[in-house]
Amino acid sequence: MDTQGGVLQALARQARFLTTALRRLAAGARIFQLGHRMGDPMQETEFVTMPDSGAGYPVLRVRNLKTYFDTDRGLVKSVDGVSFDIAPGETLAVVGESGSGKSVTSLSIMALLDKAHGKVVDGVMAFRSKDGRTQDLRVASEAEMRKIRGNDISMIFQEPMTSLNPVFTVGDQIAESVVLHQKLSRPAARKAAIDMLKVVGISAAEKRVDDYPHQMSGGMRQRVMVAMALSCRPTLLIADEPTTALDVTIQAQILDLMKRLQREIGMSILFITHDLGVVAEVAERVAVMYGGLIVEEGDVVSVLTRPKHPYTIGLLNSVPGARRRSGEEEGPKRLYAIPGNVPDPRNRPAGCLFAARCTHAIDACRAEMPPLLDTGGGQAARCIRWQEVAS
Ligand SMILES: Nc1ncnc2c1ncn2[C@@H]1O[C@H](COP(=O)(O)OP(=O)(O)O)[C@@H](O)[C@H]1O
Ligand code: SF4
Ligand SMILES: [Mg+2]
Repeated sequence: MDTQGGVLQALARQARFLTTALRRLAAGARIFQLGHRMGDPMQETEFVTMPDSGAGYPVLRVRNLKTYFDTDRGLVKSVDGVSFDIAPGETLAVVGESGSGKSVTSLSIMALLDKAHGKVVDGVMAFRSKDGRTQDLRVASEAEMRKIRGNDISMIFQEPMTSLNPVFTVGDQIAESVVLHQKLSRPAARKAAIDMLKVVGISAAEKRVDDYPHQMSGGMRQRVMVAMALSCRPTLLIADEPTTALDVTIQAQILDLMKRLQREIGMSILFITHDLGVVAEVAERVAVMYGGLIVEEGDVVSVLTRPKHPYTIGLLNSVPGARRRSGEEEGPKRLYAIPGNVPDPRNRPAGCLFAARCTHAIDACRAEMPPLLDTGGGQAARCIRWQEVAS
């Protein structure tokens, strides 16, 4: 299946999801303004909407997250006021070009920043763990974070070779995490490792369990990473570009695997990607990041079919086949890239961060930072001209 076909099919699937969501809304579910619920200790700084899934409090509520790096060349404001929620069982995709602050957001949540230089300087990351406790990960101790990383939040990175240890077999590494989290005996852990390899679709698991990482293909190694990440049945999986290094067929298999296991475990996923085509495949909601901020968010169908921010529109135009699909262009697929670069995080301009690249920019855009504006239907965009842009 090519990317164009994949996106179309996924959009059709998402349209079905939207119908269900609309039905739920019609049935009386409400869009609520986060941070304004009774007794909520976390005061909100910006307008962020989320459909009330009825499942109660979000698994993760991030408010006004700011993460800066002190470098020889100045203060790098990688993440500069990010807010979002992830509901139980939901997949939120965070999408944006390289350098927009996606990985730093996930490393901040996991407390895995390069601590010599990087620091969360502001914000709240309220996480609800399996035992029902909600705590702010920003102020959690290293011991508490180790417990959370092992039991409640798992992470998958783009390149499994950096996370897998080359000198141990994959079986030993899965067993290690199983022993740690489920307190099994060694033989039982080995059996659990074989079972996990089967679950993630590795054939001849009894044999492959003794492979070293370098004996496996990239796709297989990523399956092993998925197995390790899910061995503790986390509440939240953070997947940072998990399929970027893989070819399209293997990518689709890994995404299917993650979705299947998500249904079985009931976990939430924070899915980070630079590829809007993948967003349609995996997520219910999407947050578009630019220059350390969220510039648009909403449910996937709304954002992909009725984008309100010029940056999102530019990203959508850069999905291969997108222009051909709209009938604008015949001939071979062409990748349209947004002209210009992400602003330097050490020296961002006043006003809208996208102004230098935006064909709709006017003087008022450069005067002050646009707030995230409610554009209706649970969608929000950080653009003062969204009505003209979207029409
Ligand atoms: N350890 C670090 N030291 C200094 N700057 C960093 C560090 N990590 C990330 N950055 C900077 O923060 C910005 C956001 O990076 P990142 O979150 O990795 O982007 P993304 O994942 O969206 O591609 C970039 O400008 C990057 O150069
Ligand atoms: S606020 Fe102005 S410059 Fe920024 S995206 Fe909207 S139209 Fe473009
Ligand atoms: Mg990254």
